[in-house]
Amino acid sequence: MKIIIILLVLGIVLVLGGLVFINSGLYNVAATKPDMEIVKWVLETTKEKSVRSRAKDITVPNLNDESLAMTGFHHYDQMCVGCHGAPGISPSEIGEGLYPEPPDLSDAVADMTPAELLWITQNGIKMTGMPAFGPTHSDDELWGIVAFMQKLPDLSPEQYKKMKQDSEKMPQEHNHEDHSH
Ligand code: HEC
Repeated sequence: MKIIIILLVLGIVLVLGGLVFINSGLYNVAATKPDMEIVKWVLETTKEKSVRSRAKDITVPNLNDESLAMTGFHHYDQMCVGCHGAPGISPSEIGEGLYPEPPDLSDAVADMTPAELLWITQNGIKMTGMPAFGPTHSDDELWGIVAFMQKLPDLSPEQYKKMKQDSEKMPQEHNHEDHSH
């Protein structure tokens, strides 16, 4: 009985302490101040497990289709480069000012399955600046972006430039500015 009372009091003290801390304004939410290691661990682990469990039932289509990757390139070039950069292109000032920092996606491709890449692109990640592209893009377009991302680790700045020139020659229907999709 005694132990239950001690645990109960301890629990109440912890909850009250937490509330006092939250209301005190002590925690610095500035994007220029990295999170404490423990906070980083909690957030990173929560994200990793959440993405993994939600992506596990996604069926991956054939991604070795050049025209799929080319459509994906176009979207990537229009929507992702500003934050994540690309071969030969640095992120913009917006990308540089974000915390957590948008990672180089060539590394992400090595660490994640295509289903996980799709899930993140489709749904975004809360409280990080990573937007959800699912509400504005079809599954085909999102898989195109994943197909293109898979090429990133082997893509040179020259090849990226060449793809950009080729994509500019593509017919209007692929043009991102006319937001018909
Ligand atoms: C406004 C900035 C912004 C834009 C635009 C953006 N991202 Fe992100 N993205 C982020 C940030 C910030 C993270 C890191 C989130 C984190 O650390 O939890 C991220 C993370 C990711 C990740 C997970 C990488 C990893 O290693 O954890 C993928 C995949 C990704 N973005 C894909 C994309 C794609 C594809 C696009 C374009 C369609 C895109 N992002 C556009 C900011 C952006």
